[in-house]
Amino acid sequence: MNIILLGPPGAGKGTQAQRLQQELGMVQLSTGDMLRAAVASGSELGKKAKGIMERGDLVPDELIVGLIEDRIAQPDCAKGFILDGFPRTQAQAEALDRMLATSGAKLDRVVEMEVDEKALTERIVGRFSCAKCGTGYHDSFKRPKVEGVCDVCGSKEFTRRKDDNAETVKTRMAAYRAQTEPLLPYYGVRGVLRKVDGMAPMDTVFRQISAVLAGT
Ligand code: AP5
Repeated sequence: MNIILLGPPGAGKGTQAQRLQQELGMVQLSTGDMLRAAVASGSELGKKAKGIMERGDLVPDELIVGLIEDRIAQPDCAKGFILDGFPRTQAQAEALDRMLATSGAKLDRVVEMEVDEKALTERIVGRFSCAKCGTGYHDSFKRPKVEGVCDVCGSKEFTRRKDDNAETVKTRMAAYRAQTEPLLPYYGVRGVLRKVDGMAPMDTVFRQISAVLAGT
């Protein structure tokens, strides 16, 4: 099964994609994580993306499309993938259609995570993750079970994203409204769009998404 999680910054896309990967064995494809890895490695892509991401703007389509095209072609994606943070523009959505058509795959569901924008800044500025395995946490909503120790890998090192500040969140939110939200009708007319309540507790959101996927 191939799905897209769609929603504004902080909606919980990464949180739910990680859990779907752990529990259902689907592969999480996060363009944000791929770009952050490129920045950390100092690659050409990373050098081009760094400043754009720190401002909260979108990285140009031609850089992102190549990245996701290469990843979807990997054998592990054949068992199903969750797109987290892609597509974000009309051009990316059309490129995804072409990729799927070429490989004979289909898009089963687009899950819109509906959220109250006022709550998102709190979610984003409180977010941190394990520096070793990437598991996500939050200062108030999801602390490690043992303070200072990652639940998954036991690492004691954590990291915060440079773009997780109130000022950059405004730009990221504006980019979502202008360029990504218009994709909702694009998928709505195809009958693949389903909504879940992204403001519910994380376990409830997971159950809602699981129910959506069970209904495919
Ligand atoms: P990206 O990494 O994709 O960031 P984003 O879309 O802004 O989304 P976030 O990662 O901030 O939020 P999320 O929805 O995953 O929420 P999370 O689960 O972490 O992109 C970063 C940048 O890369 C972009 O700005 C752009 O520059 C570039 N980029 C990436 N893809 C691109 C593309 N396709 N095209 C062009 N440029 C691209 O949750 C947030 C926090 O809330 C966490 O701490 C979590 O614990 C907590 N939380 C989650 N769910 C709940 C809940 N139900 N209740 C309470 N707390 C919750």
